[in-house]
Formats: sequence, structure tokens, C-alpha cells
Amino acid sequence: MMFETQMKEKVARIEQIIKKYMPKEYSLQKTVIDAMDYTMSAGGKRIRPMLMLETYSLFGGEELLVEPFAAAIEMIHTYSLIHDDLPALDNDEYRRGRKTAHIVYGEDMAILAGDALLNYAYETAGKAFDLIESQDTVDAVKEELKLRKQVERAYQILTSKPGIYGMIGGQVADVELTGQPLDDAKLRYIYENKTGALIEASMLIGAVLAGATETGIEKIKKVAYNVGMAFQIQDDILDETATFEQLGKALHSDEKNGKVTYVTLHGIEASKAQVASLSEEAISLLDSIGGNATYLKLLVEYMIDRKN
Ligand code: IPE
Ligand code: IPE
Ligand code: MG
Ligand code: MG
Ligand code: MG
Repeated sequence: MMFETQMKEKVARIEQIIKKYMPKEYSLQKTVIDAMDYTMSAGGKRIRPMLMLETYSLFGGEELLVEPFAAAIEMIHTYSLIHDDLPALDNDEYRRGRKTAHIVYGEDMAILAGDALLNYAYETAGKAFDLIESQDTVDAVKEELKLRKQVERAYQILTSKPGIYGMIGGQVADVELTGQPLDDAKLRYIYENKTGALIEASMLIGAVLAGATETGIEKIKKVAYNVGMAFQIQDDILDETATFEQLGKALHSDEKNGKVTYVTLHGIEASKAQVASLSEEAISLLDSIGGNATYLKLLVEYMIDRKN
């Protein structure tokens, strides 16, 4: 099957998972639920849930309990976008081809919708515990306990990586160091956290839930590091080179905000070469894990040339 067809099918499954886990009941909080839905349902590439589901299968995972985590990581990512676009941060007017949440629903509701998505993500991932069936034979109980431990560890990753030692840490440095000259070390800190942390969480959760060995988990961490760095450098390249139709968000947002990026430090050509080299390393690391990583490798390759 062609990669594009496969990808479409996988995105369709992710859309169904997201739909299944988004909130459905409301009373007076309706506006905030509408604002959450507005940005969640606008599309987006769904790269993080995809990386999670693929890593989960790579390590032999077959249970449904990865699904609430896949929905949760996309909720957390979407919250980060709604807040990233706020006037106090990047002040952007378009996201996923639509006016940003704060333009449509006001800053108050956009802030609350971001908070609500983050919180609901944890309520959602917690549902994975309910998917583990209680067992009564000795061997089955051992298996149940193993699964519970995996879900607990995945939950800890999901709660820590978006936080101050992860995504928020990166966003803080990104905001606070705007307008200042940056060296490669500071830029690396920003990228590995603001973008890398959620990508790492996605892949680590997939591996942990599938019961990967510690060696496997260490390897996937390195893969995720490379994918995350490459992903953000490509985001910077696209900010300068893509069209609005391709991106669905404003071009030249970084320049408007006076951000130092990998592209401003090293130029477009060196940035493209860096994305390719990080991705190639990720692919050979995936090869060293064994198992069927065919689609995952094609996905990493696709991300090098992505236009949106
Ligand atoms: C945008 O993420 C923000 C970054 C971390 C670079 P994506 O490029 O994954 O955005 P969507 O989800 O496809 O809209
Ligand atoms: C966003 O980085 C990272 C997070 C939202 C955590 P950017 O500010 O570069 O993302 P875009 O370009 O607005 O999507
Ligand atoms: Mg930003
Ligand atoms: Mg931004
Ligand atoms: Mg950007």
C-alpha cells in the first residue's frame, strides 16, 4: 500500500479515537467545550498520537489501553497551540486553517479552553486503568499487575513531560529569551523541551505501554530526541518557506516576533541538511530495535520533506 494511503487510514483511526474521548455532555460550560472542539476538530497532522500508536505496535502492543493516551497527548498538544497563539505569547491569528481560538472565542475562553484540554487529557488517560480487566487466576493476576504498572508509568510520563522540566520549560525560555542573541546550547534547550518533550512522551508512552525492555525504551528515547529536534527545525524552515495554504497558520511568525531560530542561526540549507541527518540517524536507530518499523521509518522520512 502507498504510504499516503496508509497514513490517511491511520489518521482516520486517530480521528475516531479523539471523537470517542472528547467530552460530550455540557450545561453552562458549553462555550469552553465548543472552544476546545473548535481547535481539536480543525485537523492537524496528528503526528503525536501516530508516533505513539506506531511505537506501541512496534513493541508488540495490541491492547485498546493505548487509545485514551493517544487522545490525551493530542489534547495536551492542542492546548499548547491555543496558548502559544495567545496575544501574550506568539500573537497569531490562524491555526490549522482557521482563525485562532482567542480570535473566535475571546482570550478568556481561549485560556480556559487550553486549561480545560490539559485537565481533560489527564481525566482521559486515567480511563486506561478502567480498561484493564480484573483477573482471578494466579497467572492472569500477575499479567494484570504488569499491565497496571505499565499504565502507571505511562501516566507519569504524560504528567511530567508537558511540565516545567519539559514543554513548559521550553516555552518559558522561548518567550523570555526572545529578542536576545541565542547560542546553540540555549536553542537546543528550547527545542528539546518546547517541541521534543511531547514527541518524546508520545513515543515513550507507546513503548512503556507495550512492555518494551529498558534497552528498547532507551533506544526509542534517542529516536524521539532526533525526531523532535528535526520536527522543530522543519517547523522553522516552513515558517519561512511554505505558503499559508500549506501551513494553515501565519507565515513569518518567528520573524514578526524577533525569534532566533535554527534557520536564522544557520541558514536554510544547513537547516535542511540538519533535519535530514537527524532523521537518518533516527531511522538507523529504529533499525537497531528490530521488529516491524517499516511504517514508522517512512513516517520519519515523510517528516523530513513535510510541507505542512
Ligand atoms: C506545531 O505542531 C507546533 C510545534 C511544536 C512545531 P504541529 O506541526 O504538529 O501542528 P499540527 O498538530 O499539525 O497542527
Ligand atoms: C510551538 O513552537 C511549541 C509549542 C506550542 C509548545 P512554535 O511557536 O514555533 O509553533 P507554531 O509555529 O506556532 O506552530
Ligand atoms: Mg511559540
Ligand atoms: Mg507559535
Ligand atoms: Mg513555529
